[in-house]
Amino acid sequence: PEKITTQTVVEMKRNGEKISMLTAYDYTMAGIIDGAGVEVILVGDSASNVMAGHDTTIPMTMDHMIYHTSCVVRGVERALVIADLPFMSYQVTAKEALISAGRMMKEAGAHAVKLEGGKSICSTVQRIVDAGIPVMGHLGLTPQSIYKFGTYKVRAKEEQEADQLLEDAKALEEAGVFSIVLEKIPADLAKKVTDSVSVPTIGIGAGRQCDGQVLVIHDMLGLNKDFSPRFLRRYEDLHSKMTDAVTHYIKDVKSGDFPNVDEQYS
Ligand code: KIV
Ligand code: NA
Repeated sequence: PEKITTQTVVEMKRNGEKISMLTAYDYTMAGIIDGAGVEVILVGDSASNVMAGHDTTIPMTMDHMIYHTSCVVRGVERALVIADLPFMSYQVTAKEALISAGRMMKEAGAHAVKLEGGKSICSTVQRIVDAGIPVMGHLGLTPQSIYKFGTYKVRAKEEQEADQLLEDAKALEEAGVFSIVLEKIPADLAKKVTDSVSVPTIGIGAGRQCDGQVLVIHDMLGLNKDFSPRFLRRYEDLHSKMTDAVTHYIKDVKSGDFPNVDEQYS
């Protein structure tokens, strides 16, 4: 299959074709998601939550992200694979950011990196893009700043924060990002941003007017029972399905039904 590139997704916006994006953290899941035809796979630092069981994305390290990203890359034939740069791997200096982005490309095989933040990281973004590494931006609810925000509530409801976000989006475009994630902001603001930049916006809890949508795979498959924000649509209830399968297996082991004669070697 023809590979999806950063150019492809920019063209999709131009053609009015919606972009589908999902997260993945391992080889098997990435292969299923890619095989189904999603255009973009994000190795999110949400791995911190759904894979490692942390409350925030703060503990994620470069080594963790390189491991997950390399697993995903091996499972993908067509999709564009973007890796999150983890907390404190790009905020200290542009030089460190470039080294982190470079490792993600060289050691893990990512096709692009994603960074959280607006104007304040634009010179860093420019530096990474100048080195030939495509960058995706991320505005609105930026989980790496959770201790500054204090809550995971909707961002940019007030005019001042909304204006700032629009300025940040324009600055990111100017700095050279090929796309911007908009997380948990009012739909009207997301539309305004989408109309104001030429690069595609990918929304999560940012309404239907974004150029594309992203969800965390564990959430959309219903693997987490206790996470149900308004923006989440569950396409499966795998928590129940897996619980049923495991319960059935336990019963069969205890009763001696499994394995049967066809499931053993003579
Ligand atoms: O880490 C992640 O999964 C993300 C998406 C929710 C955009 O950044
Ligand atoms: Na993330």
